[in-house]
Order: sequence, then C-alpha cells, then structure tokens
Amino acid sequence: MLSAQDLALDYRTGGSVAHAVDTVSLSVEQGSFVGLIGPSGSGKSSLMYLLSGLKRPTRGSVAFGGRDYGDISTPGLIRLRRQRFGFVFQQHFLINYLSTLENVMVGAVKRNHEAVAYAQELLRRIGLGDNSTREPAGMSSTCSPTIGRATAGAWSSSPTIRRC
Ligand SMILES: Nc1ncnc2c1ncn2[C@@H]1O[C@H](COP(=O)(O)OP(=O)(O)OP(=O)(O)O)[C@@H](O)[C@H]1O
Ligand SMILES: [Mg+2]
Repeated sequence: MLSAQDLALDYRTGGSVAHAVDTVSLSVEQGSFVGLIGPSGSGKSSLMYLLSGLKRPTRGSVAFGGRDYGDISTPGLIRLRRQRFGFVFQQHFLINYLSTLENVMVGAVKRNHEAVAYAQELLRRIGLGDNSTREPAGMSSTCSPTIGRATAGAWSSSPTIRRC
C-alpha cells in the first residue's frame, strides 16, 4: 500500500550537496510494522519526510494506496497526511501555550465532541488523563509525559500510518 521507487533527496546548502537519500526502493504492505535503523545522519528522517510527502523527492516516486504523490497537489498531500498519517517527531514540537488536551488535538481532522472524548481517552490510556488542562511547561520535567503527549497527538486523527 506504500511504495517508493528509486527515491533520492539532495539538500543543497551554499555550494555543497548532501545526498541524504540515494536511490531507495521499498514496499510496505498494510498491517506491517517496520523499523528503519541506521547511524545518525544516514537519512532515516529524510526518507520518512519523503514517504509521508512532507518533502518532494529530488528523484524517484512515492505512492500510497495506488496514488503517486507526484500527481497530488500540495494541499492534497496535506489532507492525506492529516487523515492517514501519524507522526511522533524526534523533537516534540509541543505548543506551550496550549493545554495538554489541545496539543493532542492539533492533529485532529474534526474538532467535535467525539474528537475531544477520543483525545481525552488517549491521554487516559497513557496515564495523563488528569493533566489534560495543564500546559506542557507547567508539568514534570521528566521526559516521559512529554513523549506521551506527543505520542498521543500522533494518534488523534486515527491514522493509517504511524511514524516515529
Ligand atoms: N535541512 C538540511 N539541510 C542540509 N542538510 C541536511 C538537512 N537535513 C539533513 N541534512 C543532512 O542530510 C543527511 C541525512 O540527515 P537525516 O536527518 O535524514 O539523518 P538521520 O538518519 O535521521 O539522522 P539522526 O539519526 O541523527 O536523526 C545528513 O548528512 C544531514 O546532515
Ligand atoms: Mg532523524
């Protein structure tokens, strides 16, 4: 359902070029759990950006559910990500002036009572149910609540694909 063909991504800064992803082909079937390992700087995040349409490749193609990203407009790719992808980023990108619950709901496609109840349920599941109205900055300095909130956020739009 997710496939890539001869993918490449170059970063050009000043006069230099970093070949972050160099001719990668892969195929991931529905229901798969896939791990991507490699040394720091080997291009894991860059490949994730390409597979999720966050970045357009320098060369090659990606298709999800039979649709080639090259045939999808940028707003179309944004819609696809919001509806079908969940991200747990290396940096958590929490919004400090929003409550924990509001942070979880940033990725929600609809903001109705059902979505709020689902987000609250997600927080309860990861042991943060009592903290939904607190802002991230006011919480414990240990990292697990932060990671937990970020993780819950990735689940809030019932995605088909989740990335870490
Ligand atoms: N915005 C950028 N501009 C220029 N070069 C970049 C940029 N982002 C990444 N790179 C370079 O691309 C290569 C791949 O980086 P990437 O972040 O994808 O690696 P990674 O495997 O995710 O690393 P890590 O394990 O540290 O997260 C590295 O050489 C990095 O320096
Ligand atoms: Mg990375």
